[in-house]
Amino acid sequence: MADLKVQFCGVEFKNPILAASAEPTLSAHNMKEVIKTGAGGLVAKTVTNSEALRRLTRRSKFRYLDEEHQICQGKVPRLFTFYGRTGLAEETPEEWMNELREAQTAALAQNCIVIGSVAGTTVESWVTLAKMIEDTGIKLIELNFGCPHPSEMKDTPTGMLVGQDREAASEITYQVTQSIRIPVIIKLTPQVADVVEMARAVQSAGASAVTVINRFVGFCLDIETGKPLIHGWAGVGGPWVKPLTLRWVSKIYTGLNLPISGTNGVYDWKDAVEFLMSGATLVQFCSVVMLKGYPYLGRVVKDLNQFLDRKGYGSVQEIIGIAAKAALTYEEMESLPREVANIDPEICTACKRCMRSCFYNAIVMNHKQVQVTDACRGCGLCTCVCPVPGAIQLFPQ
Ligand SMILES: Cc1cc2nc3c(=O)[nH]c(=O)nc-3n(C[C@H](O)[C@H](O)[C@H](O)COP(=O)(O)O)c2cc1C
Repeated sequence: MADLKVQFCGVEFKNPILAASAEPTLSAHNMKEVIKTGAGGLVAKTVTNSEALRRLTRRSKFRYLDEEHQICQGKVPRLFTFYGRTGLAEETPEEWMNELREAQTAALAQNCIVIGSVAGTTVESWVTLAKMIEDTGIKLIELNFGCPHPSEMKDTPTGMLVGQDREAASEITYQVTQSIRIPVIIKLTPQVADVVEMARAVQSAGASAVTVINRFVGFCLDIETGKPLIHGWAGVGGPWVKPLTLRWVSKIYTGLNLPISGTNGVYDWKDAVEFLMSGATLVQFCSVVMLKGYPYLGRVVKDLNQFLDRKGYGSVQEIIGIAAKAALTYEEMESLPREVANIDPEICTACKRCMRSCFYNAIVMNHKQVQVTDACRGCGLCTCVCPVPGAIQLFPQ
């Protein structure tokens, strides 16, 4: 059995699989359901002083969409889109602390780590909320600089509006980290030009780690009615977002010395491995848990363990960041050996699909045979569209 334990900001997690801050953690009851699964931890639903964001949760609207962005009924594909609108914890901060204390008691008995999450609307309210979390005995706190909905709301200066404003993000991070002793994690928004720069800014202001990354705002509609789904703009994401998230996870991993908690685009244990290999130490699951239920998290932990054993890794730690470290820069790629495509005339059926997809015009018909010319760049697209296994292969030039 591989060692699943990871250290994150000085806190030991029994495994790196977490429930993200969202509906599966919106009450002590829900958090206890997560704790029972054997997950290494959870991020509690974000608590806020914004009444508008508390009200929004009372009008939550969610839809799973298929590959054509049609609303799913019963069958939800692996690459689903989760389109939805919800707010933050419905309870007032005072009420919420009771939920957190109850969850924290249950978590301690199971060696599960509860991370608190807050979103204020002024510097003072961020600090007050953070202090309230610390007073519950919780060991880590996430500041939610990524909630997408404030961008569509009036007079709600929190979430991604903070995450897009370098000065505000730095000031809040600085004031909170100066006011509490527990490590502060900043949950970033993807809706900035350069997430690494924002991570660097909050690190300089005192953040101990970053959560990469919250959701986008999108617009999905029904062409039959000419109307938007669920009445308008909403948060959008799903497993297809993973490569976009992993770009930032890997860039922050290689560019900054800062622990990363990964979220946005994970579906199963394989995705968790991808997050880990890209540089995340923790992996947070949300919309797939809302699809498959709490016990799914336990299965992910088991499957992750099996993968590590099968590959002969002794611990999770061994795989963290290995793919990020193996990535070459565009300049380094210039010294790689050139490749060219080669067609096996014995099995090629001359279907011409490779010719249709070769925009370097390097594949030609010659006496009823498909042939590769010197114009081949070795891009590899022909190997993807060829329906005959092995008929086109790339070889070093
Ligand atoms: C219904 C819903 C509610 C969410 N609520 C919060 C929240 O309160 N605080 C927060 O930081 N992120 C919130 N998120 C973002 C999730 O924590 C998570 O980062 C995001 O869904 C991406 O993960 P996924 O691809 O596993 O769904 C919410 C997401 C969803 C779908």
